[in-house]
Amino acid sequence: MKKTILITGGTGFIGNCFCKLLLKERPEWRVINVDVCTYAANPSTIKEELKNPNYKFYKTDIRDRGAIYKIFEDEKPSVVVNFAAESHVDRSILDPESFLTTNIIGTEVLMDACRKYGIERYHQVSTDEVYGDLPLDRPDLFFHEDTPLHTSSPYSTSKASADLLVLAYYRTYGLPVTISRCSNNYGPYQFPEKLIPLMIDKAKKDLPLPVYGEGLNVRDWLYVEDHCRGILAVIEKGRVGEVYNLGGHNERNNLYIVKRILAELGKPESLITHVADRHGHDQRYAIDPHKANVELGWDPVTTFEEGIKKTIKWYDENQWWLDECTSGDYMNWLNRNYKDRK
Ligand code: NAD
Ligand code: DAU
Repeated sequence: MKKTILITGGTGFIGNCFCKLLLKERPEWRVINVDVCTYAANPSTIKEELKNPNYKFYKTDIRDRGAIYKIFEDEKPSVVVNFAAESHVDRSILDPESFLTTNIIGTEVLMDACRKYGIERYHQVSTDEVYGDLPLDRPDLFFHEDTPLHTSSPYSTSKASADLLVLAYYRTYGLPVTISRCSNNYGPYQFPEKLIPLMIDKAKKDLPLPVYGEGLNVRDWLYVEDHCRGILAVIEKGRVGEVYNLGGHNERNNLYIVKRILAELGKPESLITHVADRHGHDQRYAIDPHKANVELGWDPVTTFEEGIKKTIKWYDENQWWLDECTSGDYMNWLNRNYKDRK
């Protein structure tokens, strides 16, 4: 009998990549995607998966306890991986509430369902942002799994709260949980509100590229498929009750990223426009992935040079997908987030 794995947020950027990976490399698993499809989910993203007999989609909110319990009753998943979240820091600064309800209460509902119906593993997809930030002048410092949680934005606070709740369910109820905390992802199908696809879309249209502040903030970029392989390794080989950091030792500042995109697309650097900084802007993220490497044998395989070229090529060849994302409410978001930054 096939094993059933329930993925939440599987119409989003990373969750969809994870579904694709499972359908390709774990044909003995049935993949159930539960996603309410917020603005961040372009339905075309799962067009191919919907044709696969091993895949099933429920358009459902993880905060809807009754609906979630019914899915557990019907599908009897043995593994749950929670990707579903409000994920954009700038939106959390303008409207925190949905971040608290989806990212915290949604996590609670899923874990309650796991307790009620029984589960082999609940995996929480978390972020390096729960550790706060590191100073730019201390390149010797990294986030370790035992680095204290110290958050900056409503987004990172909601993710840290969920992590604490997951660990509480492990200690109090013995729920078999694992957590992975990953650095910044990039790759195909990322919603164009995040740095890399936003800048690619704007550069292609010869529009100004809005760099917050001086553009010197550093992120540790990881190709999305490498992240998904890390999550799979945690589920298959990780120890219950443990946290695993996933990152690629690939630190770049924002100006470097934006200039790299412009160079690849043959566009002038004069498109770069410095705008008002993000409130509470984290300076530097840098993961120490040693534990995942030693315990799980996980290592990213995509170099940044390879990954960024593949990513830019994908957006270039799939402008229709970007156009679908940027229709509807997207222009209102751009107005809200960028109009007062000039
Ligand atoms: P995303 O915004 O692209 O996708 C999130 C998905 O969750 C969307 O499909 C959305 O419709 C769905 N969703 C939101 N609220 C929901 C709800 N109440 N019920 C059901 N579905 C809901 O996000 P992403 O970048 O793919 O991130 C996925 C996860 O990985 C998140 O938990 C995020 O915190 C974490 N993460 C992201 C990154 C990154 O760089 N993008 C890095 C580390 C960790
Ligand atoms: O580190 C993991 C996190 O990475 C994830 O948990 C989040 O879900 C994900 O959104 C991402 O958060 P960031 O805030 O780092 O990503 P974002 O793409 O929004 O911004 C990356 C950097 O680029 C950050 O320093 C802010 C800057 N930036 C961003 C935008 C959207 C700009 O300079 N201009 C912009 O227009």
